[in-house]
Amino acid sequence: MNVILLGPPGAGKGTQAAHICEKFNIPQISTGDMLRAAVNSGSPVGVEAKKTIDAGNLVPDDLIIALVKDRIQLPDCHNGYLLDGFPRTINQANALKLEGIRIDYCVEVKVPDDDIVVRMSGRRVHLSSGRTYHVKFNPPQESGKDDITGGELIQRVDDKEDIVRGRLKIYHKQTEPLVKYYQNDSEKPETGTKFIAINGVGTLEEVKERISTALVS
Ligand code: AP5
Repeated sequence: MNVILLGPPGAGKGTQAAHICEKFNIPQISTGDMLRAAVNSGSPVGVEAKKTIDAGNLVPDDLIIALVKDRIQLPDCHNGYLLDGFPRTINQANALKLEGIRIDYCVEVKVPDDDIVVRMSGRRVHLSSGRTYHVKFNPPQESGKDDITGGELIQRVDDKEDIVRGRLKIYHKQTEPLVKYYQNDSEKPETGTKFIAINGVGTLEEVKERISTALVS
Protein backbone atom coordinates (compact mmCIF):
# COMPACT_ATOMS: atom_id res chain seq x y z
CA MET A 1 0.00 0.00 0.00
CA ASN A 2 1.56 3.30 -1.11
CA VAL A 3 0.00 6.45 0.33
CA ILE A 4 0.74 10.13 -0.25
CA LEU A 5 -0.20 12.73 2.36
CA LEU A 6 -0.67 16.08 0.67
CA GLY A 7 -1.43 19.39 2.33
CA PRO A 8 -0.02 22.76 3.32
CA PRO A 9 2.70 23.11 5.95
CA GLY A 10 1.11 22.57 9.34
CA ALA A 11 -2.01 20.85 8.02
CA GLY A 12 -1.34 17.95 10.40
CA LYS A 13 0.31 15.54 7.97
CA GLY A 14 2.98 14.47 10.46
CA THR A 15 0.42 14.29 13.26
CA GLN A 16 -1.92 12.00 11.32
CA ALA A 17 0.79 9.93 9.61
CA ALA A 18 1.29 7.62 12.59
CA HIS A 19 -2.30 6.33 12.51
CA ILE A 20 -2.20 5.61 8.80
CA CYS A 21 1.14 3.82 9.10
CA GLU A 22 -0.21 1.71 11.93
CA LYS A 23 -3.36 0.86 9.99
CA PHE A 24 -1.46 -0.40 6.93
CA ASN A 25 1.72 -1.48 8.72
CA ILE A 26 3.91 0.72 6.53
CA PRO A 27 6.73 3.15 7.39
CA GLN A 28 6.34 6.92 7.35
CA ILE A 29 8.75 8.61 4.98
CA SER A 30 8.84 12.29 5.87
CA THR A 31 11.15 14.19 3.56
CA GLY A 32 11.19 17.09 6.04
CA ASP A 33 12.39 14.75 8.83
CA MET A 34 14.97 13.20 6.50
CA LEU A 35 16.33 16.61 5.58
CA ARG A 36 16.43 17.79 9.20
CA ALA A 37 18.30 14.60 10.14
CA ALA A 38 20.80 15.34 7.34
CA VAL A 39 21.22 18.90 8.64
CA ASN A 40 21.84 17.65 12.19
CA SER A 41 24.39 15.10 11.03
CA GLY A 42 26.30 17.73 9.07
CA SER A 43 26.28 15.55 5.93
CA PRO A 44 26.90 17.21 2.54
CA VAL A 45 23.17 17.01 1.75
CA GLY A 46 22.38 18.62 5.11
CA VAL A 47 24.89 21.41 4.62
CA GLU A 48 23.43 22.11 1.17
CA ALA A 49 19.83 22.03 2.40
CA LYS A 50 20.03 23.96 5.70
CA LYS A 51 19.71 27.52 4.40
CA THR A 52 16.90 26.55 2.04
CA ILE A 53 14.89 24.82 4.77
CA ASP A 54 15.38 27.59 7.34
CA ALA A 55 14.18 30.13 4.76
CA GLY A 56 11.10 28.00 4.04
CA ASN A 57 11.98 27.34 0.40
CA LEU A 58 11.91 23.98 -1.39
CA VAL A 59 15.17 22.10 -1.83
CA PRO A 60 16.03 21.19 -5.46
CA ASP A 61 13.96 18.43 -7.04
CA ASP A 62 16.96 16.29 -8.03
CA LEU A 63 18.28 16.24 -4.45
CA ILE A 64 14.99 15.20 -2.85
CA ILE A 65 14.08 12.72 -5.60
CA ALA A 66 17.43 10.95 -5.11
CA LEU A 67 16.87 10.79 -1.33
CA VAL A 68 13.38 9.29 -1.72
CA LYS A 69 14.46 6.80 -4.39
CA ASP A 70 17.17 5.47 -2.04
CA ARG A 71 14.84 5.37 0.96
CA ILE A 72 12.11 3.34 -0.71
CA GLN A 73 14.62 0.64 -1.66
CA LEU A 74 15.09 -0.27 2.01
CA PRO A 75 13.54 -3.55 3.19
CA ASP A 76 10.93 -1.90 5.47
CA CYS A 77 9.27 -0.47 2.33
CA HIS A 78 8.57 -3.92 0.94
CA ASN A 79 4.83 -3.69 1.75
CA GLY A 80 4.57 -0.05 0.81
CA TYR A 81 5.07 3.31 2.53
CA LEU A 82 3.48 6.59 3.42
CA LEU A 83 5.05 9.63 1.75
CA ASP A 84 4.70 12.70 3.99
CA GLY A 85 5.88 15.89 2.28
CA PHE A 86 6.71 14.25 -1.04
CA PRO A 87 5.92 14.88 -3.86
CA ARG A 88 5.76 18.64 -3.55
CA THR A 89 6.15 19.58 -7.22
CA ILE A 90 4.85 18.17 -10.49
CA ASN A 91 8.44 17.12 -11.31
CA GLN A 92 8.61 15.07 -8.12
CA ALA A 93 5.26 13.39 -8.88
CA ASN A 94 6.43 12.61 -12.40
CA ALA A 95 9.61 11.06 -10.97
CA LEU A 96 7.47 8.56 -9.04
CA LYS A 97 5.62 7.70 -12.25
CA LEU A 98 8.89 7.25 -14.14
CA GLU A 99 9.93 4.71 -11.50
CA GLY A 100 6.67 2.84 -12.17
CA ILE A 101 5.46 3.44 -8.61
CA ARG A 102 1.72 3.02 -8.11
CA ILE A 103 0.05 5.30 -5.58
CA ASP A 104 -2.96 3.64 -3.96
CA TYR A 105 -4.20 6.66 -2.03
CA CYS A 106 -3.47 10.36 -2.23
CA VAL A 107 -4.94 11.99 0.88
CA GLU A 108 -5.21 15.77 0.84
CA VAL A 109 -5.57 17.39 4.28
CA LYS A 110 -7.28 20.76 3.80
CA VAL A 111 -6.75 23.60 6.32
CA PRO A 112 -7.18 27.36 5.73
CA ASP A 113 -4.03 29.53 5.87
CA ASP A 114 -5.05 31.48 8.99
CA ASP A 115 -5.51 28.27 11.03
CA ILE A 116 -2.09 27.13 9.82
CA VAL A 117 -0.36 30.21 11.21
CA VAL A 118 -1.93 29.59 14.65
CA ARG A 119 -0.92 25.93 14.59
CA MET A 120 2.68 26.61 13.60
CA SER A 121 3.26 29.23 16.27
CA GLY A 122 2.45 26.65 18.96
CA ARG A 123 4.18 23.68 17.39
CA ARG A 124 7.02 22.01 19.28
CA VAL A 125 9.03 19.13 17.86
CA HIS A 126 11.28 16.36 19.11
CA LEU A 127 13.94 16.52 16.45
CA SER A 128 15.43 13.05 16.61
CA SER A 129 12.10 11.20 16.38
CA GLY A 130 10.07 13.75 14.42
CA ARG A 131 7.28 13.60 17.04
CA THR A 132 5.19 16.75 16.97
CA TYR A 133 3.23 18.53 19.70
CA HIS A 134 1.26 21.74 20.10
CA VAL A 135 1.41 23.80 23.28
CA LYS A 136 -2.40 24.08 23.31
CA PHE A 137 -3.96 21.53 20.94
CA ASN A 138 -1.67 18.55 21.59
CA PRO A 139 0.52 19.30 24.60
CA PRO A 140 3.21 16.90 25.84
CA GLN A 141 2.68 15.30 29.26
CA GLU A 142 5.49 17.46 30.66
CA SER A 143 6.02 20.93 29.22
CA GLY A 144 8.95 21.06 26.79
CA LYS A 145 9.68 17.30 27.01
CA ASP A 146 9.05 14.46 24.57
CA ASP A 147 6.51 11.94 25.97
CA ILE A 148 8.54 8.88 25.02
CA THR A 149 12.18 9.83 25.62
CA GLY A 150 11.91 12.92 27.85
CA GLY A 151 14.17 14.68 25.30
CA GLU A 152 13.97 18.42 24.71
CA LEU A 153 11.26 19.86 22.44
CA ILE A 154 12.21 22.80 20.23
CA GLN A 155 10.51 25.34 17.98
CA ARG A 156 11.55 24.99 14.33
CA VAL A 157 13.27 28.04 12.79
CA ASP A 158 10.89 27.81 9.82
CA ASP A 159 7.81 28.02 12.09
CA LYS A 160 8.13 31.79 12.58
CA GLU A 161 5.09 33.59 11.18
CA ASP A 162 6.78 35.41 8.27
CA ILE A 163 8.47 32.21 7.14
CA VAL A 164 5.24 30.22 7.51
CA ARG A 165 3.43 32.75 5.30
CA GLY A 166 6.19 32.34 2.69
CA ARG A 167 5.90 28.53 2.91
CA LEU A 168 2.15 28.83 2.35
CA LYS A 169 2.73 30.93 -0.80
CA ILE A 170 5.12 28.28 -2.12
CA TYR A 171 2.60 25.58 -1.27
CA HIS A 172 -0.18 27.29 -3.23
CA LYS A 173 2.07 27.91 -6.23
CA GLN A 174 4.14 24.73 -6.47
CA THR A 175 2.43 21.98 -4.50
CA GLU A 176 -1.31 22.65 -4.71
CA PRO A 177 -1.35 21.84 -8.47
CA LEU A 178 -0.77 18.24 -7.33
CA VAL A 179 -4.37 18.18 -6.09
CA LYS A 180 -5.62 18.39 -9.67
CA TYR A 181 -2.83 16.00 -10.79
CA TYR A 182 -3.96 13.24 -8.43
CA GLN A 183 -7.66 14.00 -8.96
CA ASN A 184 -7.03 13.37 -12.65
CA ASP A 185 -5.21 10.11 -11.86
CA SER A 186 -8.10 9.11 -9.63
CA GLU A 187 -10.45 9.38 -12.60
CA LYS A 188 -8.35 6.91 -14.61
CA PRO A 189 -8.90 3.36 -13.27
CA GLU A 190 -5.64 2.10 -14.81
CA THR A 191 -3.59 4.24 -12.37
CA GLY A 192 -5.09 2.46 -9.33
CA THR A 193 -4.99 5.78 -7.45
CA LYS A 194 -7.81 6.98 -5.21
CA PHE A 195 -7.81 10.68 -4.32
CA ILE A 196 -9.39 11.66 -1.01
CA ALA A 197 -9.86 15.21 0.31
CA ILE A 198 -10.18 15.50 4.09
CA ASN A 199 -11.31 18.49 6.11
CA GLY A 200 -8.32 19.02 8.44
CA VAL A 201 -10.11 21.48 10.72
CA GLY A 202 -11.32 19.97 13.97
CA THR A 203 -9.76 18.12 16.86
CA LEU A 204 -6.92 15.67 16.22
CA GLU A 205 -9.35 12.82 16.95
CA GLU A 206 -11.99 14.15 14.53
CA VAL A 207 -9.47 14.44 11.70
CA LYS A 208 -8.10 10.97 12.50
CA GLU A 209 -11.62 9.53 12.33
CA ARG A 210 -12.31 11.19 8.95
CA ILE A 211 -9.10 9.81 7.46
CA SER A 212 -9.69 6.38 8.93
CA THR A 213 -13.22 6.20 7.54
CA ALA A 214 -12.15 7.39 4.09
CA LEU A 215 -9.30 4.89 3.82
CA VAL A 216 -11.49 1.84 4.31
CA SER A 217 -14.35 2.94 2.10
P1 AP5 B 1 8.27 19.48 6.20
O1 AP5 B 1 8.85 19.11 7.49
O2 AP5 B 1 7.68 18.40 5.34
O3 AP5 B 1 7.24 20.63 6.42
P2 AP5 B 1 5.74 20.84 5.88
O4 AP5 B 1 5.16 20.07 4.81
O5 AP5 B 1 5.83 22.26 5.62
O6 AP5 B 1 4.93 20.22 6.95
P3 AP5 B 1 5.07 20.39 8.43
O7 AP5 B 1 5.94 19.31 9.01
O8 AP5 B 1 5.52 21.81 8.73
O9 AP5 B 1 3.56 20.27 8.89
P4 AP5 B 1 2.59 19.02 9.04
O10 AP5 B 1 1.54 19.05 8.00
O11 AP5 B 1 3.35 17.73 9.21
O12 AP5 B 1 1.89 19.42 10.39
P5 AP5 B 1 2.02 18.84 11.87
O13 AP5 B 1 1.44 17.48 11.97
O14 AP5 B 1 3.40 19.05 12.40
O15 AP5 B 1 9.34 20.22 5.27
C1 AP5 B 1 10.22 21.20 5.82
C2 AP5 B 1 11.10 21.76 4.72
O16 AP5 B 1 11.88 20.71 4.11
C3 AP5 B 1 10.37 22.40 3.53
O17 AP5 B 1 10.01 23.74 3.78
C4 AP5 B 1 11.44 22.28 2.43
O18 AP5 B 1 12.44 23.23 2.58
C5 AP5 B 1 12.03 20.91 2.70
N1 AP5 B 1 11.33 19.82 1.98
C6 AP5 B 1 10.68 18.76 2.54
N2 AP5 B 1 10.16 17.97 1.59
C7 AP5 B 1 10.50 18.52 0.40
C8 AP5 B 1 10.23 18.18 -0.95
N3 AP5 B 1 9.51 17.09 -1.27
N4 AP5 B 1 10.71 18.98 -1.92
C9 AP5 B 1 11.44 20.08 -1.62
N5 AP5 B 1 11.71 20.48 -0.37
C10 AP5 B 1 11.25 19.70 0.64
O19 AP5 B 1 1.02 19.84 12.61
C11 AP5 B 1 1.33 21.22 12.76
C12 AP5 B 1 0.96 21.70 14.18
O20 AP5 B 1 -0.47 21.67 14.31
C13 AP5 B 1 1.49 20.78 15.30
O21 AP5 B 1 1.84 21.58 16.39
C14 AP5 B 1 0.29 19.88 15.64
O22 AP5 B 1 0.32 19.45 17.00
C15 AP5 B 1 -0.88 20.81 15.38
N6 AP5 B 1 -2.07 20.12 14.89
C16 AP5 B 1 -2.12 19.03 14.08
N7 AP5 B 1 -3.41 18.68 13.84
C17 AP5 B 1 -4.18 19.60 14.51
C18 AP5 B 1 -5.58 19.81 14.64
N8 AP5 B 1 -6.47 19.00 14.04
N9 AP5 B 1 -6.00 20.85 15.39
C19 AP5 B 1 -5.12 21.69 15.99
N10 AP5 B 1 -3.78 21.55 15.91
C20 AP5 B 1 -3.32 20.53 15.17
